[in-house]
Amino acid sequence: MSAGEAIGPAVLREFEARFGGGPTWVARAPGRVNLIGEHTDYNDGFVLPMAIDREVRIALRPRADRRVVLHSLDFGETRTVELDAMVRSGEDWIEYVQGVAWALHKKTRLCGWEGVTAGDVPIGAGLSSSAALELAAARAFSAVCGFEWEAREMALTAQRAENAWVGVNCGIMDQMISAAGEAGHALLIDCRSLRTSPVPLPPGTAVVILDTATRRGLVDSAYNERRGMCEAAAGFFRVPALRDVSVAAFQARAAEMDPVMRRRARHVVTEIDRTLRAARALEAGDAAEVGRLMDESHASLRDDFEVSRGELDAIVGIAREHPACHGARMTGAGFGGCAVALVRADAADDFAATVAQRYDAATGLRARVYVCAASQGATVEVVASHPAAV
Ligand code: GLA
Repeated sequence: MSAGEAIGPAVLREFEARFGGGPTWVARAPGRVNLIGEHTDYNDGFVLPMAIDREVRIALRPRADRRVVLHSLDFGETRTVELDAMVRSGEDWIEYVQGVAWALHKKTRLCGWEGVTAGDVPIGAGLSSSAALELAAARAFSAVCGFEWEAREMALTAQRAENAWVGVNCGIMDQMISAAGEAGHALLIDCRSLRTSPVPLPPGTAVVILDTATRRGLVDSAYNERRGMCEAAAGFFRVPALRDVSVAAFQARAAEMDPVMRRRARHVVTEIDRTLRAARALEAGDAAEVGRLMDESHASLRDDFEVSRGELDAIVGIAREHPACHGARMTGAGFGGCAVALVRADAADDFAATVAQRYDAATGLRARVYVCAASQGATVEVVASHPAAV
């Protein structure tokens, strides 16, 4: 079952029960999986994610006051955002919505709304459930307040919310793909110019997400430490970002570098190169080459960037032993969460069942495996022509 089929009716039912009458709009935004280009976005490099068929939905209608009243079916809680007096309440799901309101409010006058939200992007699994909530909220505000939706601008706004309001120092990848994803395609994103190019998935292949059932701990400090080291490495090469260092330029001076900085920089420089090659291989329909590059990416993240963990290495190893697997790697920030595999579509179900069973037997954990479809970025649908609550 794809996302909307399960959560769509649930948000509508709950909306009616809670607020009476129906919503005016339903906004939705997807989670994502990154095929390749990991820890390259904050180095101004390239990434190649796709939006997945798991998403966050918000059914909503305008309010006459300047409040956002939002009920979450996932958390069983209702929260209110006072648009004229926003205060952080600590670690809470509403902060992603409030953060977007705060970031938008600097540019445009906001109006109140009430709604119900639910999602089926697993939380904390590295599939960007928070970016999905941010972009669904941004879509909700764009509908209620009547401002134009510009995907790049909204992705930057959501990133600002996450960096400055929520306090997570992420790059732009998750917000960009949730805002601008294209059905049936991965998106090559230039994280410096924010130019995007849709790249078709090779016919006969399927993308499979392998959730190790481990969750990342201490990820913020390790992430920030990696970012800091990448900036120091760019300083070593006297360039604005590691994006500006070619593989050859890196190799020419690698011996002069501190060993840890050398490994971190080597990952980023070679990963950017792999991402561009993977995009060309996808265009050419060369699934075997994409798979090979994914395998190399995993080794680089494990050995040079040191953001993998035993369970991710295990599931990637098990995945590759299946004859239908073109390649597999950890995906997202690392330290836990998910891996991604490119497999032959005709054997995807067998692949999913076999990998889950063998991983569970090897680790005592319960893997969750999703064969997923590349879906469209954030959208909003009008479901009633006359706002009911104003
Ligand atoms: C997290 C961040 C992204 C990106 C990835 C690693 O998902 O939110 O911006 O840096 O990690 O590629």
